[in-house]
Amino acid sequence: MIQTRGLTKHFKDVRAVDGIDLTVAPGELVALLGPNGAGKSTTLRMLTTLIPPTSGTAEVAGYDVVRHQREVRLRIGYIGQGNGAGHSQRGRDELISQGRAYGLSVRDARTRAGSLIDSLGLAEVADRRVSTLSGGQRRRLDIAMGLIHAPELLFLDEPSTGLDPQNRANLQEHILSLRAEHDTTIVLTTHYLDEADSMAERVIVIDHGRIIADDSPARLKAEHVGDRITLGFDAELDAAGAAATLAPLAPQRRGNRLVVTTQDAPRRVPGILDDLRAAGHPAAEVEVTRPTLDDVFLVLTGRSLREGGAAETRELVEV
Ligand SMILES: Nc1ncnc2c1ncn2[C@@H]1O[C@H](COP(=O)(O)OP(=O)(O)O)[C@@H](O)[C@H]1O
Ligand SMILES: [Mg+2]
Repeated sequence: MIQTRGLTKHFKDVRAVDGIDLTVAPGELVALLGPNGAGKSTTLRMLTTLIPPTSGTAEVAGYDVVRHQREVRLRIGYIGQGNGAGHSQRGRDELISQGRAYGLSVRDARTRAGSLIDSLGLAEVADRRVSTLSGGQRRRLDIAMGLIHAPELLFLDEPSTGLDPQNRANLQEHILSLRAEHDTTIVLTTHYLDEADSMAERVIVIDHGRIIADDSPARLKAEHVGDRITLGFDAELDAAGAAATLAPLAPQRRGNRLVVTTQDAPRRVPGILDDLRAAGHPAAEVEVTRPTLDDVFLVLTGRSLREGGAAETRELVEV
């Protein structure tokens, strides 16, 4: 559905996107995760034909984004970052107009608008003026706008930024059920770690215009960070003995605590506790810590993604 080679965008001396090779198969739900300024929006804007690449190539739905803009546009939906200022039309009419703009007949546009209103839970608000909708309702309407012409591929730029947690969860659920219903390929950007983690089976981590990791959340965490098992002992002597027992796991000792870094910790803990008991150094307490995608980002870049996200939230409030 998407194939890019060396996709690059420079704005004067800013390398916003710096040589991205990306392949997305039909039906995938991919999250582009990265801090503010990483190049996520610029990547989407090139893939949706809104801006031309400085160099490199991209094919979307089988068409080159530079030579066949029209063909690409007919096959995709795009919901940009921060769409939708005050509109005086009613939601349903906006949807129908959008369908007409994509070449649907009035009848087809009405039918399609009706079914999206149902599946996105907009029935109660479709006949209100758009300017009176809440952020979450407005964002769901934006998504309906992007889907009115039944695109094969939907691009969502920060779909849930600025929504409260309840509306965010609600929107995520709607996106997932749309995908289950229509098999739409979805590429979304986010700086919410939990959103990338829970929604996407594939997360592409972007930093400074480059892809620095591309895998499922579970494999990213296992490969780059691993789980941590912290074992507490009643006495330092026990901790020392336990460290010898667990030597193959290369534990680190801090006073009367041992820390083991491993994969699949919840499955390994029972065996470890058994071994320690058998060796006469039973653990008094145990804690398992599983990594987040932020830990992955930290290992890959030395920076926390959380700080970038917080900075952007502050900016949004000021605007
Ligand atoms: N139209 C533009 N002109 C100049 N610089 C831009 C423009 N659009 C984006 N940039 C710069 O490109 C970089 C990537 O921006 P963007 O793609 O918006 O990042 P993200 O969406 O990941 O936050 C940033 O440094 C940004 O300031
Ligand atoms: Mg952006």
